[in-house]
Amino acid sequence: MKNTPHINQTAEIAETILLPGDPLRAKFIAENFFDNPVQFNEVRGALGYTGEVKGKKISILGTGMGVPSMGIYSHELINIFGVKNLIRIGSCGAIQENVKLYDIIFGLGSSTTSNFASQFCLPGTFCPTASYSLLEKAKKSSDELGIKNVHIGNILCDDAFYNDDSESVDKWKKMGILGIEMESAALYMNAARYNANALCILTVSDHLLTKEKTTAKERETSFTNMINIALNL
Ligand code: HPA
Repeated sequence: MKNTPHINQTAEIAETILLPGDPLRAKFIAENFFDNPVQFNEVRGALGYTGEVKGKKISILGTGMGVPSMGIYSHELINIFGVKNLIRIGSCGAIQENVKLYDIIFGLGSSTTSNFASQFCLPGTFCPTASYSLLEKAKKSSDELGIKNVHIGNILCDDAFYNDDSESVDKWKKMGILGIEMESAALYMNAARYNANALCILTVSDHLLTKEKTTAKERETSFTNMINIALNL
């Protein structure tokens, strides 16, 4: 069992891990979708569990919000705990008319306002992308499950949830960004740098153009679709 400042490992961590932002969602998924779930972490309330789905080992960890938090957990999972496949399951705010509340987005690319890439000292701009093999599997999985409201494209990983620039959404919308979340760029960059596979699957929890928000009940159903896509994958 290994230890880092953020993960005090008390059980095995699988090669494939689901990464919701909310630790309580990690607990809920482990308890309701995994066979034989065992908790492997509780440091800082980042609840982590390992169990089985259809006889295959799988883990889940609540990463908290934002690029720094995702940067820490994805780095340690890959480099210390040997995790190979990291699948974020989160929520986002939609910024296109054709992307509706409860729709699901697979983040093909992650544009970002974050400066996370600066540490890699690249002589240009890095383009964080999903693992094609995970993306292809996720598409196949959603097709098999008959889930139709799936979009695949560019998302924005934003550092500011409360953005003082009221025109920023419109500018990203013009560039075809489907939705805004806050973790994907760190996940995709760490996966690229340390040779792992990553994918970000999002459910639209609010619409930044229409100002609609999901209700708790409806959110549960659409999140179930997203979880089933990830588990079937
Ligand atoms: N912005 C950033 N992250 C989010 C949002 C949003 O509007 N909705 C859900 N996660």
